[in-house]
Amino acid sequence: MKILLLGSGGREHALAWKIAQSPRTQALYIAPGNAGTSQVGTNVPLKVNDFSGIRQFVLENDINMVVVGPEAPLVNGIADFFLADERLHAIPVIGPSKAGAQLEGSKDFAKAFMMRHGIPTAAYRTFTPDSLAEGMAFLETLQPPYVLKADGLCAGKGVLILPTLEEAKHELAHMLDGMFGQASARVVIEEFLSGIECSVFVLTDGTHYKILPEAKDYKRIGEGDTGLNTGGMGSVSPVPFADAAWMQKVEQRIIRPTIEGLAQEQLDYKGFIFFGLINCDGEPKVIEYNCRMGDPETETVMLRIQSDLVDLLEGVAQGDLDKRFLGIDGRSAVCVMLVSGGYPGNYEKGKVITLLPEDDATPDTIVFHAGTALDTHGQVVTAGGRVIAVSSYGKDKADALAKSFARAQEIQFDGKYFRRDIGADL
Ligand code: AMP
Ligand code: GLY
Repeated sequence: MKILLLGSGGREHALAWKIAQSPRTQALYIAPGNAGTSQVGTNVPLKVNDFSGIRQFVLENDINMVVVGPEAPLVNGIADFFLADERLHAIPVIGPSKAGAQLEGSKDFAKAFMMRHGIPTAAYRTFTPDSLAEGMAFLETLQPPYVLKADGLCAGKGVLILPTLEEAKHELAHMLDGMFGQASARVVIEEFLSGIECSVFVLTDGTHYKILPEAKDYKRIGEGDTGLNTGGMGSVSPVPFADAAWMQKVEQRIIRPTIEGLAQEQLDYKGFIFFGLINCDGEPKVIEYNCRMGDPETETVMLRIQSDLVDLLEGVAQGDLDKRFLGIDGRSAVCVMLVSGGYPGNYEKGKVITLLPEDDATPDTIVFHAGTALDTHGQVVTAGGRVIAVSSYGKDKADALAKSFARAQEIQFDGKYFRRDIGADL
């Protein structure tokens, strides 16, 4: 099987690492990839939203499957693009249709979907510029803090949590006035939920599903969960409170109604579903859906999948996922993200990264690349805010963390920063 994987982050290096281990993988291409993905496959200089470039590459290289890492091409309809093309329609895309991807592409759609299917989530209402006055009045009925969400994709920046009514009203007006362009032409205002978050991942062929290992990610830049939000500073799997009893509630109340709801509404969905959950006094509720895997959760989840990922992906494509085997590694896995100094604000790129020879060879630590590139001298340099995801196995969380922190110290680049408290709250 010849596989094309779209994306260029730590998530994609982790997916590529796992796909490359499959005996079914004959060739693996990553578009555009990073310096790390070039160690396990062949990078292709194509942008993830360049559908016609992707089409040409797929046809010229006899690609048999396309795996989509990030949400943008899915929300833009890459699965539909393949299905509508007479030369591409038999080539499976792992990722939902444009209609299915609305679970992530429109917060209003996702909330209304959850309401239709009785899936537990925060109470909400949606407002437009025409209903600004009603939005202001609705805010007055809520308790602080106030949660405002731009309806559309905003590269992770579309959610504001505001401590006072005054700020909430100010930001609502600002959002509806085009703060995030079209993405905030509609704004969801919702009840604030408090609890610990947990990311649950499901692979589905539209009818059957497999629940992958869950993970917790760490979003804030500072230790003790302080400071600005980032793309994710680390992750841990398993999550202790996600025990069998809790996961049973998640499956019954959230996963099953979601899969059945998608089928009932004929929303074509073959791919990953990321359930962003919050544990409210033992009761799981949905904070958000994503139509892809999480980053940096993938950098721990892939370590814990023992079975052949390509076999599972074939099950998704062929609609017989129920006949495929998912084996889960009982060890713990953690990921510590090394980021550029200044991130998530301004930061410099092009810093030379000193990796060690062992980075390719230690069985318990896998150094995934996130924002890296090869410069003209073939040196690995920083090329993004999140640079390297140091993932490790351990007999328990502490053991895995010790290995990742040790390697995080050894890898050098100018301005390197990482959180030393990943997993400490669990
Ligand atoms: P989202 O982009 O929907 O994942 O939101 C970003 C982050 O905002 C989430 O991971 C939560 O930490 C937080 N958040 C979103 N919605 C709520 C809510 N209703 N109550 C509390 N926190 C929330
Ligand atoms: N780790 C959160 C995300 O991928 O959106």
